[in-house]
Amino acid sequence: MPGLLDEIEPLKQAAVAELKAAPDLAALEQTKGAWLGANGKFTALMKRLGTLSKEEKPIAGKAVNAAKVELEAALVGRREELELKAALPKEPTDFTLPGRRRVLGKLHPLTQVTEDIVRSFRKIGFVVADGPEIEDEYHCFDALNTPADHPARDTQDTFYLGLGANQLSAQNATTAGTTSPSPRGEGRGEGDRSSRLLRTHTSSVQIRVMEKQPPPIRIIVPGRVYRRDNADATHNPTFQQVEGLYVDKGVTAADLKGTVEFVFRELMGEDVKIRFRPHYFSYTEPSFEIDFTSALVKKMGKDWLEIAGCGMVHPKVFENVGYDPEVWTGWAFGFGIERIAMIRYGITDIRLFYENDLRFLRQF
Ligand code: DAH
Repeated sequence: MPGLLDEIEPLKQAAVAELKAAPDLAALEQTKGAWLGANGKFTALMKRLGTLSKEEKPIAGKAVNAAKVELEAALVGRREELELKAALPKEPTDFTLPGRRRVLGKLHPLTQVTEDIVRSFRKIGFVVADGPEIEDEYHCFDALNTPADHPARDTQDTFYLGLGANQLSAQNATTAGTTSPSPRGEGRGEGDRSSRLLRTHTSSVQIRVMEKQPPPIRIIVPGRVYRRDNADATHNPTFQQVEGLYVDKGVTAADLKGTVEFVFRELMGEDVKIRFRPHYFSYTEPSFEIDFTSALVKKMGKDWLEIAGCGMVHPKVFENVGYDPEVWTGWAFGFGIERIAMIRYGITDIRLFYENDLRFLRQF
């Protein structure tokens, strides 16, 4: 049939022009239908192929297919252009507008409480001291007058390490005494500086500080400690303590009580009351446990909560660090930070502090 071959090119050109001129996506879809839909103009052309002679059909078919490929390319090209246009902002960007602020994270509740404790003690002249979390038995126990048969030294209660001297001298470079490789068990006892453990309390830092500097001393030591406890609502194998040490001439238990009272009132409110109960610690004499009460404690249905251990530094401890116990006096205390945070915020399960659940952390 003469004519069909000649019609292809102009028809294709008209279709491509129309597709390229479509002003938006809806118009483009409409134009597509008008040409390539079941009743489209180009579809009509294809339908007429069947009426051609055997000789004409392959030539015309090839030409029609080539035209259709071009049509479809024009369609896809225009569609991409229009989609991009639709995604662009409708109004010009104002580069002078203030930027979007990033949401800042917060300090962990235990860090917040620690910082508050440190702030209170700084007001009355204490400085923060630090010491290694991997300790030797000497600093953790012996120097603190803690006998070899004390339960805290039992493997059931304490994490001992099998590290060699080289690894440890690197870890404790600034503070450690002399070291020699010796697995736990060998040569254990008085003055043992070779068997290593995760410190069970921050009291070891008292010794490290006194070994390094002469009195007077006024330090607090916030830090991580480790015990072989199973985790439950009130225990965790890792927790935080704050140690305090005050050494000077003429220091008394009244200073200790006044200091503790000041800090606890700052932390927990003006209605806080504390009381000292006689107790035993090998590094203090006399020793006390500190009980504490406030409206918060009453709310928990308790009269008093045991909160800390403390006492007057034992003369033997002074001797161990080379201080003359006839000249120097001092007191020390230690308490758990989690305990304070739990009371302060009314938290009933210590494990919440370590789970890093944002629903918990966002509340502080
Ligand atoms: N080290 C003790 C503990 O972990 C707490 C403590 C009690 C620290 C009496 C002291 C102290 O400095 O004098 O339970």
